Amino acid sequence: MKILVSLLAVSALWAAGPRREFTPGEVWPDTDGNPIQAHGGGLLRHKGRWYWYGEDKALGNFNRTGVAVYSSKDLYNWKREAIALRKDDVPELFRDHGVCERPKVLYNRKTRKFVMWMHLDDRGYAEASAGVAVSDSPTGPFRFLHQIRPIHYDFGYPEKDRTNQRERGSTYRDMNLFLDDDGRAYAFYASEDNWTMYVVRLNAEFTGPEAPAVLGRTWARILVRQMREAPAPFKHKGRYYLITSGCTGWNPNRAGYAVAGNILGPWTDMGDPSAGPEAETTFRSQSTFVLPAPGAGKGAFIFMADRWMPKSLQDSRYVWLPFRVDAAGRIELKWRTRWDLNIFKSELK
Ligand code: DGJ
Repeated sequence: MKILVSLLAVSALWAAGPRREFTPGEVWPDTDGNPIQAHGGGLLRHKGRWYWYGEDKALGNFNRTGVAVYSSKDLYNWKREAIALRKDDVPELFRDHGVCERPKVLYNRKTRKFVMWMHLDDRGYAEASAGVAVSDSPTGPFRFLHQIRPIHYDFGYPEKDRTNQRERGSTYRDMNLFLDDDGRAYAFYASEDNWTMYVVRLNAEFTGPEAPAVLGRTWARILVRQMREAPAPFKHKGRYYLITSGCTGWNPNRAGYAVAGNILGPWTDMGDPSAGPEAETTFRSQSTFVLPAPGAGKGAFIFMADRWMPKSLQDSRYVWLPFRVDAAGRIELKWRTRWDLNIFKSELK
């Protein structure tokens, strides 16, 4: 029966031909006809291909499978490559009913390694740590290196702290990575129990924070006490942008963005980037990544977000929307039911 169903799915796909547009919020099948499982994901461009890494939630919430990786040459059609980091390759606490979220991968040109960072947690979200894994190939297998809280800093610890930040360092949850033009890499993450965002420069191997960590020099507290998560950084005309969401679990909320001339700040709040109906919930989605749009000139980007389905997380959808930074350095996200990259030659020229 299962074989028949997948044969039918493949033949339906075959009849439909390759995909040539994005349909935000719809089921997005891979080239085998199965819904793409790459939630909280991020993209890496390497040797003419994009790789999409994300949480495989086919078996439901928590880390039951690991981090999946898909590849594409056109961003519309995605081939499932592998489980890049298998759930059994992270420490036991983070398998099965543990948490392995928002994986992101950078390529380190000096070491020639692919480096994956992720948010690891126990099911109660009190471990709140980073995980780091490396691989010689973009499709893995990634080898788990260590679990860390990159920064230890006295921000005025809360009296009762179930996350033990005084002893163990500032918490690490929703995260992203950013590779700057000068080859230096940064991790952005919700810290201080999600109250404050941290941006931390990584060491030359991208496997940990630059040491010694010096506040204002190698790392910074940004969006202080603003309770933001789901950071999605990008850069345009020498300025850094960061889209974030509020913290409301799996339920969507209003996005915000901030801009800075220096990645370590100061960051200026620019308000909500979304416009039109459902802007107040970011079109029922939550940011995960921003990708420079290919072949579209400077300032063209794709906003990538997750439309979580809290009751059946495996059915969560993806919301990808195009935007262009305007002359004043502002951005606007608008809902579109369907669109393709030609939009950057017409409406978003
Ligand atoms: C919101 C985060 O952005 C998600 O990645 C996930 O951790 C959920 N919270 C869990 O409630």
